[in-house]
Amino acid sequence: MKTILITGGAGFIGNHVVRRFVRKYPDYKIVNLDNLTYAGNLANLKDVEKAPNYEFVKADIVDAKHMLEIFKQYNFDGVIHLAAESHVDRSISSPMEFIFTNIVGTMNLLNAARITWENNMENKLFYHISTDEVYGSLGELGLFYETTAYDPRSPYSASKASSDHLVRASFHTYKLPVVISNCSNNYGPYQFPEKLIPLSINNIKHNKPIPIYGKGENIRDWLFVEDHANAIDLIFHHCKTGETYNIGGNNEWTNIDLIRLLCWVMDRKLNRPEGTSVQLITFVKDRAGHDLRYAIDSSKLQGELGWKPSLQFAEGLEKTVDWYLANEDWMNNITSGDYQGYYEKQYTKR
Ligand code: NAD
Ligand code: DAU
Repeated sequence: MKTILITGGAGFIGNHVVRRFVRKYPDYKIVNLDNLTYAGNLANLKDVEKAPNYEFVKADIVDAKHMLEIFKQYNFDGVIHLAAESHVDRSISSPMEFIFTNIVGTMNLLNAARITWENNMENKLFYHISTDEVYGSLGELGLFYETTAYDPRSPYSASKASSDHLVRASFHTYKLPVVISNCSNNYGPYQFPEKLIPLSINNIKHNKPIPIYGKGENIRDWLFVEDHANAIDLIFHHCKTGETYNIGGNNEWTNIDLIRLLCWVMDRKLNRPEGTSVQLITFVKDRAGHDLRYAIDSSKLQGELGWKPSLQFAEGLEKTVDWYLANEDWMNNITSGDYQGYYEKQYTKR
């Protein structure tokens, strides 16, 4: 039986990866290590928490000594590292958490893997999950390739870029078997409602303003979260170590067009007359240093590993809306707590 560490498994993407691995690979023991920050929620994993091949460990990746103890105790065969501070707006108001978790935390895991695997690195893999934001911001044309020079522009993306460099440095310096993937914007069930799509779904439902930064002209390349989990599965099992793979939806939307589509879907789902929800759109102060456009070229992953996105955006968005409307308790549990304080600060004291 192989023992696989998944960090950040209680978060948005992590829970989909944990669920997939627990169900698809009964001969793997999946250890989900998560510190349960505001973004980590064990309710996301209720359906697999009793599986015999699943174990949860509450721990902070910033604690180097504890990480080494855990690596020695479990002798992991592989690591899929998702734990991170992930929200750009929070990185602007409180950057230090991003430095600790994303940079120091990643280095702690790399060190722990190197020390415990020192005598036999064969068949081991340290898989670092990263973002397209490390490449910076595109103009109207062009795509991000695996070879695009790094140009991060927010504290979040700079901390992720830094962690990517440390992962590659560990490959070159210590021969640690690593792989990195850089993915575009994910959407789908269990995403924390600080991010554009779930925040807007929740606001539309409660007839609250939908805050659009600037003029809503910024462009993102959206991918359904389960397609990301599928890519992670393929890369984990079939990658060439030392490589980087870009993952993207080939699905670019300006924020304003995306929100208009979402309003149309929500009107139908909530039996409101068409054109009701768009009236909630409210243009607010722009995000500082707001990257204009992200767009990924994923032809390496498609060509080498046969991956492709499974869902058209209209279908994925509808599935997502259905999930949020059917899981009101999940949303209410989040929005009734500390999140209220964050929301007030971010949107009402401008
Ligand atoms: P998320 O914020 O929903 O979840 C992060 C998880 O990490 C949470 O469960 C949190 O409790 C845990 N965590 C945070 N700090 C920790 C610490 N110090 N120790 C242990 N656990 C800690 O994030 P997400 O959106 O699921 O993103 C997961 C990963 O994927 C991140 O590395 C992010 O950079 C990357 N990524 C995200 C997207 C996206 O669109 N969401 C796209 C590309 C890449
Ligand atoms: O590209 C991958 C990245 O996508 C991940 O690395 C990040 O972890 C993830 O959070 C996401 O970053 P973005 O900043 O693109 O996502 P967010 O949902 O915060 O914002 C999407 C776009 O919508 C962005 O242009 C900012 C805008 N926006 C966002 C919010 C929260 C608004 O206009 N209003 C809002 O209230």
